[in-house]
Amino acid sequence: MNNLLAVKDLHTYFHLRNGVVKAVEGVSIEVKQGEVVGIVGESGCGKSMTALSIMRLIQPPGRIEKGEIIFKGRDLLKMEDEELRKIRGSEISMIFQEPMTALNPVFTVGYQIEEVLKLHSELGKEERKSRVIEMMRKVGLPDPEKRYREYPHQLSGGMRQRVMIAMALIMNPSLVIADEPTTALDVTIQKQILELMKTLKREYDMSLIFITHDMGVVREISDRVYVMYAGKIVEEGSVEEIFENPLHPYTVGLLDSIPSVNIEDRKKPLKSIEGSVPDPANKPSGCPFHPRCEKAMDICRNVEPPLVKISETHFVRCHLYG
Ligand SMILES: Nc1ncnc2c1ncn2[C@@H]1O[C@H](COP(=O)(O)OP(=O)(O)OP(=O)(O)O)[C@@H](O)[C@H]1O
Ligand SMILES: [Mg+2]
Repeated sequence: MNNLLAVKDLHTYFHLRNGVVKAVEGVSIEVKQGEVVGIVGESGCGKSMTALSIMRLIQPPGRIEKGEIIFKGRDLLKMEDEELRKIRGSEISMIFQEPMTALNPVFTVGYQIEEVLKLHSELGKEERKSRVIEMMRKVGLPDPEKRYREYPHQLSGGMRQRVMIAMALIMNPSLVIADEPTTALDVTIQKQILELMKTLKREYDMSLIFITHDMGVVREISDRVYVMYAGKIVEEGSVEEIFENPLHPYTVGLLDSIPSVNIEDRKKPLKSIEGSVPDPANKPSGCPFHPRCEKAMDICRNVEPPLVKISETHFVRCHLYG
């Protein structure tokens, strides 16, 4: 299978008065046609900055320093702005965590979904409207003719997220990047939105990058998983490899902190990873996880571990292996 997207050695830094924040440091990610790729890691590890870099939406003082973002064989970082604007929203689209900030409060939701069609298609007014209504129905918005004329504040959080999904999918993009699309929702609604995304993904045969800090959600939706820590990928593998044979102590820590599906195991207290994520302006030497790692050795403090190949699809960045 060919790669739809290949991010290669991406570096995204923020240049602040008091130093440089290395938000993304050498990230490489591949997404195949029709594949769901999960990116997981604690808050601040660089998930959103990776996503925004792929969309080329990083704002100053942030900057992409280095790397390639090859989409359908072409480097997005070398494209003219005009051409990129055509791709954004039509071939690649993004769904954000907080729909209230992504939606404009002064326009109806129907108008806002329709804007995408105005921007990216030649369709006439009537045709656009019927497409929007059809899409609203697809994402499970009840009574779409009525909802079309409503404003974002008249909808619940789950409904607003459905509107965002409709906006992201209406041009039938090849790639959708969803950045914590269910985090702001309560658990039942979270499950519904996840199911909806799975169904639509199959129906539209799109590829999906799904960003979350929740290992349970990752297992639910992903084919392949990238585990991020302090701006780097520390482990990658198929969903089976990551959940049945996690190798990086950080991945193991993330897995220990999710509630088990096994009733017996549920009686055990949940562990959380000790310590906190490093200050990205002042990352530890060697392996950035070593200050929190129970298995840290001398080498971990001084030498940055290389990416070690475990199988054709499983890689880990840890001195315990290789
Ligand atoms: N405008 C900015 N100025 C300085 N640093 C920034 C800026 N935006 C992001 N960063 C830094 O980049 C790092 C990565 O941030 P990012 O938003 O990608 O994390 P994340 O993994 O998406 O976290 P979360 O789970 O909380 O969404 C963070 O440490 C953050 O402090
Ligand atoms: Mg984020």
